[in-house]
Amino acid sequence: MERLDDNGLPADNVDELDYVPATRQTPVVNSHNEWDPLEEVIVGRIDDAGIPEWHVTLESTMPESAWELFRSRGGERFPEDMLHKAKEELEGFARVLEQAGVCVRRPEKVDMALPFSTPHWKAKCSLYSAMPRDAFLVFGDEIIEVPMAWRNRYYETSAFRPLLKEYFRAGARWTAAPKPELRDELYNHAFRSPESMADMDYAITEFEPVFDAADFSRAGRDVFAQRSNVTNLMGIEWLRRHLGPQYRVHELEIDDTHPMHIDATFTPMSPGKVLINPDRIKKLPKMFDNWQVLVPPKPTIDITGGFSMCSNWIVANTFMLDEKRVFVEAKEEPLMRAFESWGFEPIPYSLLNFNVFGGGFHCCTLDVRRRGGLESYFE
Ligand code: NVA
Repeated sequence: MERLDDNGLPADNVDELDYVPATRQTPVVNSHNEWDPLEEVIVGRIDDAGIPEWHVTLESTMPESAWELFRSRGGERFPEDMLHKAKEELEGFARVLEQAGVCVRRPEKVDMALPFSTPHWKAKCSLYSAMPRDAFLVFGDEIIEVPMAWRNRYYETSAFRPLLKEYFRAGARWTAAPKPELRDELYNHAFRSPESMADMDYAITEFEPVFDAADFSRAGRDVFAQRSNVTNLMGIEWLRRHLGPQYRVHELEIDDTHPMHIDATFTPMSPGKVLINPDRIKKLPKMFDNWQVLVPPKPTIDITGGFSMCSNWIVANTFMLDEKRVFVEAKEEPLMRAFESWGFEPIPYSLLNFNVFGGGFHCCTLDVRRRGGLESYFE
């Protein structure tokens, strides 16, 4: 009998799968916001992910239930039994996107277990290529490789190089932010986990610009940023100057004592509609006064009992196929009902086994091409 996966789809042998999209088109990079109709997307891979080595940037961002694995097995591969279901879900999600008519692209397989070093430090392995959202920003026809703060992610863009070269040959602009040194001076070794925003502390200093792409979200000419344990003020300023006067980069006030990545906290979903995490956003800039503010119900799923690299708020990490259709965690019924009541068409799909590796629908995708141009959505 045919075996079905948790999403009710025929289960492939994901170990054997080498995804070749059927609908490959001429690649052109063009994406200005999170909602224009999606034409081409990169979906990451979670094969052979490596366990990052214990570091202050993990202490400041990861749920405590995950610490033991980083401490005891940092530098090894994640055990196959942890990865298998996550792989199955991710491959299924790539197929669902393709069935929706989207051209799905994948990074190449690279060996995450290879150690590497710079003149200043050594790493035993790379993390993964599962979350292209963390490593790249797309603004119009430009794709930017960002300067990520985790040492185990230093070569994360390697798996995407064939795609980057292909996009470049097809006319895209390809930029890399200044490669950071990630020396000891970048890290706050006196970091103590803050109990409240009153004693907020960050794991990184202002030694050099660093940022993860996932600390930014795009609404045409307006770009929203959060300072976090992987994105410093110099990083936000680098992007602001790089984008220049055509864009406005706004730093948001976030109530999160362990911030890493904005997209379970704040997401502009479509023109005039913004989703906020009520635990983390207490005040929005005045420019949102005429926008509908969508406050999701508290998560009902719980992935934090065992190993998890993120909080249950990962369910707020959705992904827009267009202005109406949104991928939402299938097992988070109240959130699906909320999206319906806000005028969206939720597409249920479950990524709970994948989520424990730190990302959701938005994280595992990079929307390379959406149909639409650069606009301003604020008066
Ligand atoms: N670090 C966030 C998830 C970001 C996608 C969280 O754990 O809620």
